[in-house]
Amino acid sequence: MDDFDISALWADVRARLSDYRFYHSQCVAECAKKLAAQYGWDEEKAYVAGAGHDIMKEQSRRAAPAYLAENGVALTPLELRCPKLWHAMAGEIYLRQTYSLPEDILQAVRWHTTGRENMTLPEKILFVADFISDDRDYPGVDEMRVRARQSLESAMEEGLRFTIEDLAKDCKPIHPDTLAAYNEILIQ
Ligand SMILES: [Fe+2]
Ligand SMILES: [Fe+2]
Repeated sequence: MDDFDISALWADVRARLSDYRFYHSQCVAECAKKLAAQYGWDEEKAYVAGAGHDIMKEQSRRAAPAYLAENGVALTPLELRCPKLWHAMAGEIYLRQTYSLPEDILQAVRWHTTGRENMTLPEKILFVADFISDDRDYPGVDEMRVRARQSLESAMEEGLRFTIEDLAKDCKPIHPDTLAAYNEILIQ
């Protein structure tokens, strides 16, 4: 990461996202850096992962599936019905092709929305940072922040439960990777 120019990535993120999401990206970058310091990931990598994690979030609903298909991603029937999941896959591809970022950053971006079984430390850090960044103000966020200081797994369990409950309440499907992540943490 020594020769990586973060200013180019920030300019790119700024150009692609609304004010609100740009601010969210800044907050997640700062939060991921702090979590990396506490839990032992490279702080600069965590910051870059946070900066770039939502870079494709405002790609249009028409463009995103085409972009994924062009890059060899075959969406499952469930994924086709869940546009909120697309930006994590598209983000990994875009950041790989444009910035040649290291694999641990790319995988953290790839799994930041659904989670998955056997998540790595970088994946957990970005997943949790996305829930507790300074811009977040949902009911329960303070408890999430306390949990995150105690253990990443504790915060992830709660975050995954939120996600699953929210989706179920809205009669939306739950991605199998999210269920796998939740079940794994509960069993451990
Ligand atoms: Fe996201
Ligand atoms: Fe995010």
